[in-house]
Amino acid sequence: MPELSFPPRFLWGSATSSYQIEGATREDGRVESIWDRFCRVPGAVEDGSTGDVACDHYHRWREDVALMKDLGLHAYRFSVAWPRILSEGGWRVNHAGLDLYSRLVDELLRNDIEPFVTLYHWDLPQVLQDQGGWVSRATGEACAEYADVVSHHLGDRVKNWITHNEPWCTSILGYQIGRHAPGLRDWPAALASAHHVLLSHGWAVPVIRTNSPGSEVGIALNLKHVEPASPSGADSEACRHFDGYFNRWFLDPLHGRDYPADMVADYAVAGHLPSGGMSFVRPGDLETIAVATDFLGVNYYDRAVVRSQDVPEDQNEARTVVVAPESEWTNMGWEVYPDGLCQLLERLHREYRPPKLYITENGASYDDGPDGDGIIDDERRQRYLRDHFVAAHRAISAGVPLSGFFVWSLMDNFEWDRGYTQRFGIVWVDYDTQKRIPKRSARWYQSVVARGSISTD
Ligand code: FCB
Repeated sequence: MPELSFPPRFLWGSATSSYQIEGATREDGRVESIWDRFCRVPGAVEDGSTGDVACDHYHRWREDVALMKDLGLHAYRFSVAWPRILSEGGWRVNHAGLDLYSRLVDELLRNDIEPFVTLYHWDLPQVLQDQGGWVSRATGEACAEYADVVSHHLGDRVKNWITHNEPWCTSILGYQIGRHAPGLRDWPAALASAHHVLLSHGWAVPVIRTNSPGSEVGIALNLKHVEPASPSGADSEACRHFDGYFNRWFLDPLHGRDYPADMVADYAVAGHLPSGGMSFVRPGDLETIAVATDFLGVNYYDRAVVRSQDVPEDQNEARTVVVAPESEWTNMGWEVYPDGLCQLLERLHREYRPPKLYITENGASYDDGPDGDGIIDDERRQRYLRDHFVAAHRAISAGVPLSGFFVWSLMDNFEWDRGYTQRFGIVWVDYDTQKRIPKRSARWYQSVVARGSISTD
């Protein structure tokens, strides 16, 4: 296979999030977040760990920017911790908290690395959870105020904004499946939460545009390529449902199409809706949510192959997910399926036509550590990334306006309910010493970025 060249201005970057890397959870006026609280629930996090220290990025951000510079990255996607910005019990701005991000942004720009700022990557202030969290519309309003504060302070220098990371995780994983903070199992609460997350996106976009003229704003969704396990009618039907639950419930309202009617009907039958039906949707909300954006961020890890199983109607979503037996898996138990990335991107382009797309996350958890010489030979991660870059290239050749690719993650970090058991980094972190060592995949990525192309031999 020949060398595959990417478009000249294609952005190559890496991604992280605040709670997963920063540590310093009690410093400089940061208030408690729902993840601080959730980590302390026995059994909630696989290894009983917390983000208290994580990668100590709060104190080591300069070193981490130098690492990115060394790797030649063009862009860095990170998130702002809401609990660092707004003080307990009110909306007084905590300037000490904002300062970290202000200095980080300056340092990135000095090193020619374009900051992509995510406003909400799951660390809700606990004080807002105590008032209902995302189930409450007021949290959406607070989020828009928070977006105002951050974009006001950073908007002169930050020109790329992502309102939310993965609303499906915030709402369904947090309020229905309960694997993420706040750990609830309540369908009506989850659907109301999803709505308020999307609504706050719609409110935040114009605020950011006002505070940060000339900037580009979008949202990052976790999306799967979904296919039926067989051509049978029952499997196709299960596939429609899973796609609605995972992808369309978020994509459709963001693109001006209302919530998908088939899913509203399914949820009504299953008893998932609040007693008043879709009563959390008020007049005008759908117009707000459908605000025009500049790009869609896609977090892609794997596909879902869906089989119909005999499950009670209120457990429809359990009609997933079988995977071809010959598949390869990462340490997370996620299937390696690069073709799905290309298929997903082509579908998004065909069905939703976002003006521009970024892969805002893609990467793999493998546990290769340093050998006797301190070398980390993570050949499987390198192959995973290469195959997904090839898939992205194929999508670009098919006309998809894909403008950049952010590898998850710059460095090993706190992987939510899996704690420190999963290493997604292209840079190894020794959690005892906080030493960072670029893995072989990082050096390979460096050469891809430098050449703007990949060789597929
Ligand atoms: C995504 C999250 C990110 C990270 C990766 C592995 O769902 O956005 O924080 O945990 O998965």
